[in-house]
Amino acid sequence: MNTNLLLSPPLSLYIHIPWCVEKCPYCDFNSHALKSKIPELDYVQALIADLDADIARFDLKNRVLHSIFIGGGTPSLFSAKAIESLLNQVLHRFKYELDIEITLEANPGTVEADKFIGFAKAGVTRLSIGVQSFESEKLLKLGRIHNVNQAKQAAQLAKECGVNSFNLDLMHGLPNQTLDNALDDLRTAINLKPDHLSWYQLTIEPNTAFHSKPPKLPQDEVLWDIQDQGFKLLSDAGYQQYEISAFSLVKSDLTDDKKCQHNLNYWRFGDYLGIGCGAHGKITNQITGLIQRTVKVKHPKGYLDKNREPLNKLTTITPDELPFEYMMNQLRLFSSFTLAHYQQRTGLAASSVLPTLLQAQAKKMMINTQGSSAEKFSIESKWQVTPLGHRYLNDLLELFL
Ligand SMILES: C[S@@+](CC[C@H](N)C(=O)[O-])C[C@H]1O[C@@H](n2cnc3c(N)ncnc32)[C@H](O)[C@@H]1O
Ligand code: SF4
Repeated sequence: MNTNLLLSPPLSLYIHIPWCVEKCPYCDFNSHALKSKIPELDYVQALIADLDADIARFDLKNRVLHSIFIGGGTPSLFSAKAIESLLNQVLHRFKYELDIEITLEANPGTVEADKFIGFAKAGVTRLSIGVQSFESEKLLKLGRIHNVNQAKQAAQLAKECGVNSFNLDLMHGLPNQTLDNALDDLRTAINLKPDHLSWYQLTIEPNTAFHSKPPKLPQDEVLWDIQDQGFKLLSDAGYQQYEISAFSLVKSDLTDDKKCQHNLNYWRFGDYLGIGCGAHGKITNQITGLIQRTVKVKHPKGYLDKNREPLNKLTTITPDELPFEYMMNQLRLFSSFTLAHYQQRTGLAASSVLPTLLQAQAKKMMINTQGSSAEKFSIESKWQVTPLGHRYLNDLLELFL
């Protein structure tokens, strides 16, 4: 690894809130059904102690904060007052741009107008609402705590509460879902005019209730039609796909970018701190050139224990792991990247990945979008995944292992 090649990547902050009203049967996120009142004050205190330890560990006092994402679990279970206290304390510790993106995830069953207005006043600029489906039968099957009307109301409140933008999370490939069901869900979402849509295909994860008792999922041909026609519907409605599951509304004047800046930083192999139960982080040390990962204590009880260090694991990504780690993120995106960017983010020479890129190009999974063959090997030449590469992304990624 050559530290001269490394440039300081943007720094984001992920904050994990590990509680939900109930555990959904498909969800493998670190979330726990709430049994009593949330220890809000203690948790905010623990988060700030966790953050201070990371700042000291990685000497981050002079880094500019690029974005914040409060995810879960269900962060909207927290009071606006607790979120305000948390954000004030976080922002006090960093330099940051005035238009910094601060996202908070909300579950429609846990919000009302005053709460959204309170979040906006606390500094939240973007709400991400977990709708999943607009069909009552599907919501029941997914174990959601809200109904269709509450989901629609949450979107309306998000529009009026004072945040800059809002996202809706929808899933497809749901139990017994037909092509028409899935397209109807998308049409309803589009009619609510979110600035951003995350459209995930339901996956059955180990250690979930759906894994122990699998529901009947649509056949592969139906799944394929849902994707194919869903992408077209979104595109016709002005939503640009910029990542496998992420779509942003393109305004006609093109001035206002609605892509999620926080997630973009992950996908571009930027740096991020992860604080809260089980949160993951990735930080580049500018002096040693080491790129390190952190994992925090997973269970709320252990995390809230003042006698315990919040850090559970600290590992270094080795140079031979870096090409895959970079590509695993970057290749999810529909935009191109340069070898110069690869060098800056990994500290590795372009030669560590160029033969594999050429191999992927020969398989028609990647294209080099720039100029003549002489320019092909310039570090400024641009590389992009083809539709074939995105369709068989796992096969493409295996080339980088
Ligand atoms: C961490 S969850 C948080 C959102 C919030 N707790 C809620 O459910 O309303 C983020 C999103 O991941 C998606 N998700 C969770 N489990 C999934 C699975 N097994 N397959 C596909 N998407 C999933 C859902 O769309 C969910 O809204
Ligand atoms: S509410 Fe969200 S985080 Fe909580 S269990 Fe359901 S999907 Fe997972």
